[in-house]
Amino acid sequence: MHRPLAFLVTVLLIASGAAALASDVPRPDDLRAMKAEYRRSAPRIADNPALVALGRTLFFDPVISASGKTACASCHRPELAWADDVARSMGDSGRLTERRVQTLLGIGHARPPFDWDGRHATLEAQAVSSIGTGSMSMFATPHEMRVDDIVARLRRSDSYAAAFARAMPGQPINLDNVVIALAAFERTIEPGDAPFDRWIAGDETAIPDAAKRGFVVFNKQGNCVGCHRGWRFTDDQFHDIGISNKDPGRGRERKDDPFAQFAFKTPTLRSVALRPPYMHDGSLKTLRDVVDHYVKGGIDRPSRSPMMRPVDLTEDERKDLVAFLRTLTGE
Ligand code: HEC
Ligand code: HEC
Repeated sequence: MHRPLAFLVTVLLIASGAAALASDVPRPDDLRAMKAEYRRSAPRIADNPALVALGRTLFFDPVISASGKTACASCHRPELAWADDVARSMGDSGRLTERRVQTLLGIGHARPPFDWDGRHATLEAQAVSSIGTGSMSMFATPHEMRVDDIVARLRRSDSYAAAFARAMPGQPINLDNVVIALAAFERTIEPGDAPFDRWIAGDETAIPDAAKRGFVVFNKQGNCVGCHRGWRFTDDQFHDIGISNKDPGRGRERKDDPFAQFAFKTPTLRSVALRPPYMHDGSLKTLRDVVDHYVKGGIDRPSRSPMMRPVDLTEDERKDLVAFLRTLTGE
C-alpha cells in the first residue's frame, strides 16, 4: 500500500476505534432521565430523639435475650450493613436461624410487611417476635425465660428507668413500649452516602466508567430495575426468582396464591457488597455469582416471576454490573 494512504487508513482506524470506545461510556445527557429515578429521599427525622436513643440502647443490649448474651446487633451488625456474614446465624437458644439475616438499611422507608416472607405487618410486631419467639428465642432455652422476666430486668435497672422516663414520660416499662422504642430506632438506620449518590448528584468522577456502563445494564439489558427500583433499589414486593426448592417463603402463609410460592421480599441493594453471602438462604457467595444466576434465570417453575427470563449479558456487561453494584456501598 502507498505510504501516505496507509498512514491515512491507520489514522482513520484509530479515530473510529476511539469513537467506539467513547460511546461505550454513557454520556451524562443520555443518562439524565434514568438517573432522575435514583435521587435519595430525605432522611427520616425522628420527632422524639429520647425514644430513638432508648431504642438504640436496647438494640445493642443483650439484656433483652434469655441468656443475656444475644443482642439485636449480634445478628444485625452495623459494620456489615446491619446484616451478618453467614447464611444462618446463631440464635440465643443455640439454634441456627432458618434464613439469612436481612439488612436493616433504610428500613424506615420500606413498605410493610416485614421479613423475607412478609409475616409481620409492622416493625413493632416484628420486634415482639424477635424477642418473644423468634431469633432471641427465649422459649427454646433450658430456663424457659419469659418476656416478663426480661421486662423485670429492665425495671430493675436505674438507667433504663431514667431512659424510659425521658422517652415516654409516665408510661410503664413493658413489652409494648420496648418494641415502640426499638422500632423508632430502626427507622433511623439510613443508608450512608455512597459514591453512587455523589454521581447522581452530579460528580462524574465519583464512580468508574465501568460502573456507569453497569448502571445502564441494570436499567436496560438486565432489567434489574423491574424489581430493584428507586434509590433503595427495591419495590418492597415478593417475587420468586428461582433460587431454591426448600423454602416456600411467602407461600407458607399464602398457599392459594401461585406467585407467592418461593417468593421473597426484594432486598435493598444499598451496601450490598458489604454483606455476602446473598439471597434468603445465603446460597450465592459473590456478586458475580448473583449476576450469573440472573443470566441463567433461576429455576423455571409456575411461580417464577414473569420478569425472570434468562438475560443474555456479555462477559463485559456482567463485569460492569458488578462494578456498578460496588458503588452502592455507603459510608
Ligand atoms: C439470631 C440472629 C438475629 C437476631 C438476634 C435478631 N435478628 Fe432480626 N432478623 C434475623 C433474620 C434471620 C431475619 C429474617 C427472618 C425471616 O425472614 O425469616 C431477621 C429480620 C429482621 C427484620 C425484618 C427486616 C425486613 O427487611 O423486613 C427486622 C426489622 C429485624 N430482624 C429486627 C430485629 C430486632 C429489632 C432484633 C432484636 C430485638 C433482631 N432483629 C434480632 C436474625 C436476627
Ligand atoms: C423479579 C424481580 C427481580 C429482578 C428482575 C431482579 N431481582 Fe435481584 N432480587 C429479587 C429478589 C426477590 C431477591 C431475593 C431472593 C431470595 O432471597 O430468594 C433478589 C436478590 C438480589 C441480590 C442479593 C441481595 C441480598 O441482600 O441477598 C442482588 C445482589 C440482586 N438481587 C441483584 C439483581 C440484579 C443485578 C438484577 C438484574 C440482573 C436483579 N437483581 C434482578 C428480585 C429481583
